[in-house]
Amino acid sequence: MAEIPPGGFAAPKGIPEYVGPEFTAVRDTLVREADRAGYAHLELPVFEDTALYARGVGESTDVVSKEMYTFADRGGRTVTLRPEGTAGVVRSVIEHGLDRGTLPVKLRYAGPFFRYERPQAGRYRQLQQVGIEAIGVDDPALDAEVLAVADAGFRALGLTGYRLEITSLGDATTRPEYRATLQAFLEKLDLDEDTRQRARINPLRVLDDKRLEVREQLADAPLMRDHLSDSAAAHHRKVLGYLDELGVAYTENPWMVRGLDYYTKTTFEFVHDGLGSQSGIGGGGRYDGLMAELGGQALSGVGFGIGVDRTLMACHAEGLEVAPARRVEVFGVPLGESARDHLVGVVGALRRGGIRADLAYGGRGLKGAMKAADRSGARYALVLGERDLASGVVQLKDLTDGTQTEVPLDGAVAAVDRALGA
Ligand code: HAM
Repeated sequence: MAEIPPGGFAAPKGIPEYVGPEFTAVRDTLVREADRAGYAHLELPVFEDTALYARGVGESTDVVSKEMYTFADRGGRTVTLRPEGTAGVVRSVIEHGLDRGTLPVKLRYAGPFFRYERPQAGRYRQLQQVGIEAIGVDDPALDAEVLAVADAGFRALGLTGYRLEITSLGDATTRPEYRATLQAFLEKLDLDEDTRQRARINPLRVLDDKRLEVREQLADAPLMRDHLSDSAAAHHRKVLGYLDELGVAYTENPWMVRGLDYYTKTTFEFVHDGLGSQSGIGGGGRYDGLMAELGGQALSGVGFGIGVDRTLMACHAEGLEVAPARRVEVFGVPLGESARDHLVGVVGALRRGGIRADLAYGGRGLKGAMKAADRSGARYALVLGERDLASGVVQLKDLTDGTQTEVPLDGAVAAVDRALGA
């Protein structure tokens, strides 16, 4: 039989776990803004055909070449735990012919994604995202909508210390020409062999080099922004205009490099300054070629993925209270066995009445039970002693100021309801 490891079982390295209401509160707030803009829920598979990500995300990206959780299933198929959501959404749209209906197809998703990264604060091997994708219409107003949904999600949480960085990565008409210009520029620099190799495979990625000696040489690098086609430039101007109209603040960052290959035109990142090196709380953009690349019609799409883990960290960094600390509203404190037998029913009736309630289990004494009541965050305790029981009453104790009122036992639910509503 398999043995318990020394020190006990532990969750796999780089996987955060969340206890309590905060994580779901953040996730659901972000999802709510997507719902408000008409994005329908799509429950994506957690693993897919490896080739989907290799084609969709790009073979030369770190995500595909170094970070995928890939394995053969028992039928000998090569499958991969989803490293991101966009490729799966596009696959689903094509497979189910959703693009034959009204366009754009607007979908949202939430859940865990998997990347074999070096774990550190804010960088996990199981990361959580909320994402939206709008597929089938190439309209700058849609890019602005996607950005406004993300921005509204962050604002609904109370966040203020973030900024939206945006740029345009151009389209297929001028990208090859820009690539060649950048490559020619990079060839003349004093770079190590690895970086030269990268410049040959994906020159754009070199722009993202963080090393000072490389950065200095890159100061005069040609930027995509100055090599846009007329239509890509017009698209970009329109997006920025709509953002102004929607009151979404942004800064242009022509140096931006994303870790996924499918982006064209609008490309963006939301960055939070309170998070140290893992500062990206969300990112996304337009992907004109992805549908066709994955075997569908030549339709474009635009979307974002927001990191829920990092968004929660950003809330903590700003000292925001994300979710009420109250696990329950009422806590039952039975003193003795027959009191316990009675309170079990009262707590059940409270829950049926829509009131969050819990009970001190395990025959604890008054002191221990009151401590549990305090820890639960409850506003009220229902304290029931043997003498109360004999007289058909129960003590309703306000845990914020310690005052106590006697209420009829068979009217306890109504009394709690009144007290909570007061
Ligand atoms: P991404 O930039 O790779 O984009 O990931 C989106 C967000 O997920 C990041 O901004 C970050 O907050 C979070 N994230 C990524 N990796 C990690 C990690 N290892 N640990 C913690 N958080 C992480 C995408 O995934 C695209 N599919 C977004 C998109 C949708 N583009 C168009 N549509």
